Amino acid sequence: MTAQYLFLALVLALTLNHRNRFVRAAGTLLAAIALGFIVLSVILADTDGTFAAAPTGMVRPLLLNAQAAVALAAIVFLLWAAWRQVGRASTDPLPWRNDAATFGLVSRGAHWATATLVLCLFPIGLFLQTLPAASPDRGVFLAVHQTLGVTVLVLVLARLGWLARSPPPPLAPSLRRWERSLARLVHPALYASIILLASTGLLLTLSGGLRLELYGWTSRLPAQADVAAGGLWKTLHNLVLPILFYAIIALHLGAVLKHHFIARRTRDVRRMLR
Ligand code: HEM
Repeated sequence: MTAQYLFLALVLALTLNHRNRFVRAAGTLLAAIALGFIVLSVILADTDGTFAAAPTGMVRPLLLNAQAAVALAAIVFLLWAAWRQVGRASTDPLPWRNDAATFGLVSRGAHWATATLVLCLFPIGLFLQTLPAASPDRGVFLAVHQTLGVTVLVLVLARLGWLARSPPPPLAPSLRRWERSLARLVHPALYASIILLASTGLLLTLSGGLRLELYGWTSRLPAQADVAAGGLWKTLHNLVLPILFYAIIALHLGAVLKHHFIARRTRDVRRMLR
């Protein structure tokens, strides 16, 4: 299962900014299909009794159903976007590096791979918590979650390293003052929250006496759990940071959508997505 998620992230990173419009549209269609699988999985868990028997109560099933509803709306949007992409012209190739006008292919690829993995990590994390502790599926989903989480951490750190070598373009000139201030706050907050989510996940695993499984390799961790430290990392990873992240991503997406569809400054979004 891990390989499928990584493959999805790689394909979306390579296609969404491809110069050929049909490849771009195929990438968008693939994103819609992947969201469709998430929606189907939630419906299946609703109907086969998985959620009804969740040992941790109904909050997580409710959150997963809310995410499925948002995913459903996103699918409609992506299908419409794919249709529009087919009608647009193919474009010139992009540079690998960032320049003064736009993000290059490396930054764009890393952005969409990170976005894909993070958006998958939330439902996987919530879903595994709805399974009984003794269920073998829980171990499988936990291993997938840990591997994708560590991959995201490495990806974000590599991306920050790349930005140090290849500085991002200045914020779009069309942004108003308050929009600039918000972007200057939201962009670093996004990086910070992802790094903190992944680090607290690792710390929670290490201090909770849980098995750490990465790419099929299983670590030998101390079986002794450090209850006090584990409780802190758990609260941060399971509650505080997800709430913070949802708020930050809502601001980020809200700003992008408003900028593109309400203010009609459509060129700016093309700095990260063709
Ligand atoms: C950006 C990366 C990550 C995100 C967005 C994320 C998100 C989540 C979410 C939403 C949950 C469910 C919380 C709940 O329902 O209470 C969860 C659970 C969990 N995550 Fe992560 N996670 C990430 C990275 C990691 C990493 C790198 C690891 C470990 C290597 C990890 C280990 C865990 C564990 C062990 C649980 C279960 C916690 C428990 O038993 O209470 N996570 N994660």
